Amino acid sequence: MTRLSLTINGKASGPFEIRDTLSMNDFLREYLELTGTKFGCGMAQCLSCAVIVDNPDGTSMTSPTCVVPAASFEGKSIRTVEGHARNGQLSTLQKAFVEHFAFQCGYCTPGFLNEGQVLLERLARTPVARAELEKTILDALDGHICRCTGYVKYHEAVRDVILADPNRYLR
Ligand code: FES
Ligand code: FES
Repeated sequence: MTRLSLTINGKASGPFEIRDTLSMNDFLREYLELTGTKFGCGMAQCLSCAVIVDNPDGTSMTSPTCVVPAASFEGKSIRTVEGHARNGQLSTLQKAFVEHFAFQCGYCTPGFLNEGQVLLERLARTPVARAELEKTILDALDGHICRCTGYVKYHEAVRDVILADPNRYLR
């Protein structure tokens, strides 16, 4: 057994007494009932289980949770799909996903949303040229699998959010 304390969606959580082998996915879903984080392939191949990890230097990245022990998140700060909306209002990216009918079954959506949000925040810190935008989006969302094949709509939604605020995201 081990103890785990971490910050989830801005709230300090823990300490929890957990099995050393408990996966982060089971921890979120079974201990905290944060079932927005999905379990797909279970082999770090589809990223439907991805959450955002916020680094101390202000950068962020996504991490799969299916094959990663919960204990390895000790002291970290993470965001899940449940943390995007504020005061009952969807985030800009969530609204864009809805407006573009980006998802069908929605199973992959939390992973795409987290990845898209990380991209937006990265571009806000380090804007890219308009000519690099398509490749930037493609590279960022690469690795996320949508069995309903909604890739184009996801890409369009992310692109629209960026193009709607070029002073923020583009140079
Ligand atoms: S469920 Fe984690 S990568 Fe597929
Ligand atoms: S919307 Fe069904 S897997 Fe992507």
